[in-house]
Amino acid sequence: MTSLLWRIRYLHRRTPTLPARRRQATSAPLHIRVLGEKYTTDDYTNLSPSISSKLSKRLHAQKGHPISTLRTLIENHFPDFAHFSSLSPIVTPYQNFDSLSFPADHPGRAKTDSYYINRNTMLRTHTSAHEVEVFAKGTERWLLTADVYRRDEIDASHYPVFHQMEGAKIFGNDPSSIEQIEKETQRLERQLAASNIVTEDVQHISQTNPAQTSHNVRSSEVTAKNLKLCLNSLLYELFADVAGASEDDPLRVRWIEAYFPFTSPSYEVEVFFRGKWLEILGCGVVLQSTLDRAGVANKMGWAFGLGLERIAMILFSIPDIRLFWSEDPRFLSQFTHGKINTFKPYSKYPPSYRDISFWKPGRDMHDNDLYDVVRDVAGDLVEDVTIIDRFTHPKTQRDSLTARVVYRSFDRSLVNEEVNGLQDRVVSHLKEQLGVEIR
Ligand code: PHE
Repeated sequence: MTSLLWRIRYLHRRTPTLPARRRQATSAPLHIRVLGEKYTTDDYTNLSPSISSKLSKRLHAQKGHPISTLRTLIENHFPDFAHFSSLSPIVTPYQNFDSLSFPADHPGRAKTDSYYINRNTMLRTHTSAHEVEVFAKGTERWLLTADVYRRDEIDASHYPVFHQMEGAKIFGNDPSSIEQIEKETQRLERQLAASNIVTEDVQHISQTNPAQTSHNVRSSEVTAKNLKLCLNSLLYELFADVAGASEDDPLRVRWIEAYFPFTSPSYEVEVFFRGKWLEILGCGVVLQSTLDRAGVANKMGWAFGLGLERIAMILFSIPDIRLFWSEDPRFLSQFTHGKINTFKPYSKYPPSYRDISFWKPGRDMHDNDLYDVVRDVAGDLVEDVTIIDRFTHPKTQRDSLTARVVYRSFDRSLVNEEVNGLQDRVVSHLKEQLGVEIR
């Protein structure tokens, strides 16, 4: 099973690996309605009903919900930043990718990885999709919270909808503005020196993580350093208490060189928690082309993006990502807006699993197609799907796959008949929608 680190890695891949997919032979409707608007479908349409049903939920705006509390805590940490939280999840590939200088063949664009309403319309895969429009408003310091959508596997820490918070700060690319930023950095440095935090750093700039050609190296370093201090101080505020940071056992934060198409230099930040390094966020110095597109070519600055679920799971001890979507009072009533407390699991009902083996229809079925079918049938009753076997028949060259589907409800015991019914529907949907042959 993959680690929690997948979400940021997704943007790291540099080479295209995914095959183009054909439209399924089933009779898809010509139009679909999404958030009250009518859209024409085409060979890119892959938005499933279980995903559409999440578009209006906006957990980050539900007072008292852990996702919303975490958002508030982060907003309070950056008092002079503007807040955005109501931008539509429906964007164009231009916003999500091109405006951020993603190459034309970046794998994140594939319909196996992202949800498309049609070729020209998709669900944002990250909050960075809004960078250009927010910078274009002239906002220099801002935070933006939103639901984001990615096709992915199924387990306790993966869900195709999650929440991100983007933060950015830009300033004049001139000596006196840069000096101002250095002063802010020094203030933060003094504050953190008195805190129980130890950071493992990387060079601000290196050959593999360069300053942009349009930036002078010193300004780029000042920007990167300011970014690092601002985020170290945020992470200290969020994690020091739960991690029990003390003089003997300080909070440990680690900076790592990274790659994103829209920042340079770029970094990932990890926090050491319960014996493990957890990847918390991605960030970097904003690509000048982004700022040029936003009409603020004389500025420079930094941006970061963090996943709220991952952090909330740690802070509130929430063991399964599906719980964030629960409307059960046994979940929701445990939280008070603005406060962090430890979630007390209510009785965990037993899991039930079923295996399914089939021949794939051709070379163009992606594992994510299987996951979306299972989600559409079972919704939040599915806890985990693991591919337990794959092989290619030596004579026919056909690919076979065996998956184990774990069903479990948070609220009740699932009886065998219900699980069998779910599994039967998964099987028939796989046959009808994907054309697999059950073995
Ligand atoms: N958008 C990136 C992601 O989703 C995170 C990021 C934001 C990286 C801003 C750099 C700057 O993983």
